[in-house]
Parts: sequence; structure tokens; C-alpha cells
Amino acid sequence: MKILVTGGAGYIGSVVVEQLIAGGHQVVVFDNFYQGHRAAIHPEARCVEGNLNNRSALRQVFENDTIEAVMHFASYTLVGESMQKPFMYIGDNVTNGLNLLQEALAHGVRRFILSSTANLFDRPAKIPISEEEAIVPGSPYGESKYLLERILSWLDRTLGLRYAALRYFNAAGASENYGEDHEPETHLIPLVLKVALGKRSHIEIFGDDYPTPDGTCIRDYIHVIDLAQAHILALEALDRGSRVYNLGNGQGFSVRQVIDVARNITGRPIPERVGPRRPGDPAVLIASSEKIRQELGWQPKHPSLESIIQSAWQWHLRNPNGYEN
Ligand SMILES: NC(=O)c1ccc[n+]([C@@H]2O[C@H](COP(=O)([O-])OP(=O)(O)OC[C@H]3O[C@@H](n4cnc5c(N)ncnc54)[C@H](O)[C@@H]3O)[C@@H](O)[C@H]2O)c1
Repeated sequence: MKILVTGGAGYIGSVVVEQLIAGGHQVVVFDNFYQGHRAAIHPEARCVEGNLNNRSALRQVFENDTIEAVMHFASYTLVGESMQKPFMYIGDNVTNGLNLLQEALAHGVRRFILSSTANLFDRPAKIPISEEEAIVPGSPYGESKYLLERILSWLDRTLGLRYAALRYFNAAGASENYGEDHEPETHLIPLVLKVALGKRSHIEIFGDDYPTPDGTCIRDYIHVIDLAQAHILALEALDRGSRVYNLGNGQGFSVRQVIDVARNITGRPIPERVGPRRPGDPAVLIASSEKIRQELGWQPKHPSLESIIQSAWQWHLRNPNGYEN
């Protein structure tokens, strides 16, 4: 298939593009490099530089290429920033998605995969969190993804769009060629590895008085390669109907466990400091991915924290300045 990947120069998008091309698909990447990197785009992908707020730039893509499916990664992604700048999220994330959907449907494209988020579940009643859990977005960021999910479900009913909304928990790790390089970086594993590389003085732990075994928050880390595989399975299943999946590896690891494993793997000191809790951080977030396992046979190949951190460390060692080498 020929697939349009928005945000294909970003962290998760770059690994999905790599896997799509390995699987024989053709890829057009659409990215404005707000966070992405040219060097993160697979050499066999066609790259179009553009902003999703530009309808005519999008229209050109659909006119120039016979796109058969869209994977939509491009987004503002920071929970904290969304609390400061709600319009950037509830506004731009949603209208950019609408622009893309309108152009896709106008050009007969009816397969669509959305990057959604665990931030839909701010107060889960049950851990692990299944698709049955009540949706309570934790921020304007989470709300923007939920609004897009709602829009997709209406487009399915009214215009025959077939979509998958994949609610990622914490994407982590790297492929051999593509890894995580955000500015600012807010994700725990790359931050810890930057301390190991000597690029940051210490790692801050936001609260160690949570009701968890070691007092630090527990999160579900999913290897980015396993996440990419889920996209490919979801794409293949779209013609059988739209679907929504929670995607994590089903295991939780505490902030302290992440730091300890990183110390073991890197063999380097990683000083830590305990600061206050961040407002709105739930103690435990772990996904149930039973539904995608059962319906699509998805199986994480790299579920251990060690393999996730090892792959990220190898990438950081090869790219100590990220993509700015
Ligand atoms: N990283 C995670 O753990 C995680 C968890 C849950 C959901 N998600 C979602 O997955 C998707 C990818 O996340 P990521 O970590 O790879 O993010 P990222 O910031 O690395 O990638 C996003 C890409 O989109 C591009 N982009 C942003 N706004 C754009 C616009 N208006 N027009 C064109 N391009 C634009 C950026 O330049 C970047 O290359 C996002 O939608 C994010 O919300 C990520």
C-alpha cells in the first residue's frame, strides 16, 4: 500500500515508517519538523515538508500520490504544556486532524490510524486498564485525542471511514536506526540516559510517597518496535472494521526500577533527586492489551524493561547528540 504518515520524522513515526518500508509498503511522510528530524526519515520514504494547518499543502499530497491509508502521528504531545496552552491542543490538534480527515475522505481514502493516548484514563477504577474503562481525559492534550476518537467514530458511521485508534501508554526504546530525540525531553527513559551520558546532572523523581511498593509512580513502557508492529496489524485489519485498542506491554515499572535498570545497563552513575509530586500524576497506569492480543494476535517481542532500556542506550551511545550528529 501507499501510506501517508504524518509526523513520520518524529520518534514513533520514524520507527513505524521503517517497519512499513521493511514490509514492502510505500510511504509519504508529511511533517513540519516542529519536533521531527530530517535524519529520522527513512531514505526510501518520500518527504513532504508541510504543516497540517495548511489544507492546500495537504490537498497537494493526495493529488500527487495515490494514498491508500493514513497514519496520523503529528500532534502537539505534551501534557504539561497543554495545561498552560489549552487552545494549542483542543484547538490545533483537533483542527489539524480534521483538515487531514477532510482531505483524505475527499480523495477517497478510507483507512486511518490515530495515535491516541493513555491520558484518556486519568482516574482508572481498575488496573490494568482495558478499553471498558471510563474515559476521563487528564488534560487538554488527552481531551484533544478523545475528541479525535469521537470524530472518527462519526466518520465511520456517516462516511464509511475505517479507523483504528491506538492508545499508547509510554513508548520507549529504539530501533537500530531510529530513537527518541525530543526538545524539550520529558520522557523518563531518555532523561535517565542523558544523565548516564553526562548531558544532565541528575534525574528528578517527582514524588516518592505514592501508594506503590517503592513510593514512586508505576508506568507501562512499550517498546517502540512492538508499537510499530501493532500499527501494521491494525492496518491489515481495517477492512474488517474500525477498532480501538489500549496498547502497553501489560507490566508496570516504577520510576526507581527504571533508574536502577539504567544504572545496571549503562554501568554509569545516575544521580537522583526527589522532588515534589507533579499535580495530576496518577500513582499507577498499566494497560491491558488483551483485546489487541486476542483480536489481532499482537504479541510484544521486547516486553522486558532491560531490552527496552538496552535498545535506547545503544541508540544514545551511537547518537550522543541525538539526530544532530
Ligand atoms: N511518545 C509517547 O510515549 C506517546 C504516548 C501516547 C501517545 N503518543 C502520540 O503518538 C504520536 C507520536 O508521538 P512521538 O513521541 O513520536 O511525538 P514526536 O513529537 O516525536 O513526533 C510528532 C511529529 O509530528 C510533527 N508535527 C507536529 N505538529 C505538526 C503539524 N502541525 N504539521 C506537520 N507535522 C507536525 C513533528 O515535527 C514530529 O515530527 C503523537 O500523536 C503523540 O501524541 C505518544
